[in-house]
Amino acid sequence: MPFHKLTVTLPARGYPIYIGSGLTETESASKLIPILYGQYGVVVTNTTVAPLYLERVQKWFNEAGYITSAIILPDGEEFKNHETLLRLYDDIFKAGLQRNSFICALGGGVIGDIAGYAAATYMRGVDLLQIPTTILAQVDSSIGGKNGVNLESGKNLIGTTYQPRVVISDVDFIATLPEREIIGGLGEVLKYGLLAGDDFISFLEMNKHEILIRDPRSLATMIHFCSRVKADYVIRDEYDRLGVRAALNLGHTVGHALEKLFAYKRFTHGEAVAIGLVASLLLAHDLDLLAESALLRALQLLKDFGLPMQIPDEVEVDEMIALMRRDKKAENGLSMVLLHGLGDPHLEKEIDPVILAEVLEKCKKPQL
Ligand SMILES: NC(=O)c1ccc[n+]([C@@H]2O[C@H](COP(=O)([O-])OP(=O)(O)OC[C@H]3O[C@@H](n4cnc5c(N)ncnc54)[C@H](O)[C@@H]3O)[C@@H](O)[C@H]2O)c1
Repeated sequence: MPFHKLTVTLPARGYPIYIGSGLTETESASKLIPILYGQYGVVVTNTTVAPLYLERVQKWFNEAGYITSAIILPDGEEFKNHETLLRLYDDIFKAGLQRNSFICALGGGVIGDIAGYAAATYMRGVDLLQIPTTILAQVDSSIGGKNGVNLESGKNLIGTTYQPRVVISDVDFIATLPEREIIGGLGEVLKYGLLAGDDFISFLEMNKHEILIRDPRSLATMIHFCSRVKADYVIRDEYDRLGVRAALNLGHTVGHALEKLFAYKRFTHGEAVAIGLVASLLLAHDLDLLAESALLRALQLLKDFGLPMQIPDEVEVDEMIALMRRDKKAENGLSMVLLHGLGDPHLEKEIDPVILAEVLEKCKKPQL
């Protein structure tokens, strides 16, 4: 199967993204990896991914003349913190990494974020390669350079923007992903669909069955589509300072509040985003920004992909709105990304809390 290639073109240094099946097995690493400063690096992964793919990836590096050692972190968002990071720095040092060595992140978004932050800061920055292994990481977190760790006070509060030298999204990794992680990842995919508009939405509508059964060709096309959208936002607003990248928060203001309300236990990030998408679609429709036909089409897609769509009954919407006001990306007041049409996102500021509360209540009921 041929692979897709994209380039993230940035003023300082662009980088390629490769998407396809069997990239870390059948494609030669020397064909995909740009010239690195040195031949030696570490692969950072976790206890779940290591037994599945570490040997394959190290062998792949080896065949291209790179020597790697491995650092295996515990698995889980709860380990994305300073304690793990300090241990990681120590292990990197013990592995003998120099300024001209590289770090490869092999795993989901948690590994990508922590290994990315280590690469950005160890000896003031070493080459970083991203080999994402979840849908969420392939379509989103491995692209754009954001990295970091959590603090007790909140998620992702410490971090930098440090671009990788290459992103290699091998869709074969998706075969072993637990079902719930697939569905969660599809929450982010649908966000990209709604940001991109008709072409991508039609593709998702026509290929939903193939995607759900993890057909590699459909997965590769889907991940290529999303990566293109994400890369385009990154190119236009690398450091998230111009307001352009804000559109990527579609569904996230409500999603973050829901995750927080349930202490990150009840919903995965992608599930919370899916419910957030429903809320933002309903709000846009109630404010006469989004046509009924577009609303129904988007809701049907969320339903077809088996994504959660309802806010649990026990949620106090006032409490949720209070959390939304404190969202780190909310700037001042209550702001949300709303669609004025499929593929037409706008950051709306000063959302009326009364109308929002009505919409959130409506979100407790089934929509279709
Ligand atoms: N940097 C960014 O731009 C950005 C964007 C979005 C999310 N994030 C971060 O990403 C993280 C979430 O990422 P995630 O959803 O990938 O979660 P994750 O990294 O926790 O991975 C989910 C689970 O799947 C397992 N796993 C990974 N690949 C597997 C495979 N191929 N087969 C079987 N199991 C596998 C992991 O070990 C883990 O248990 C959060 O910390 C979030 O803050 C970062």
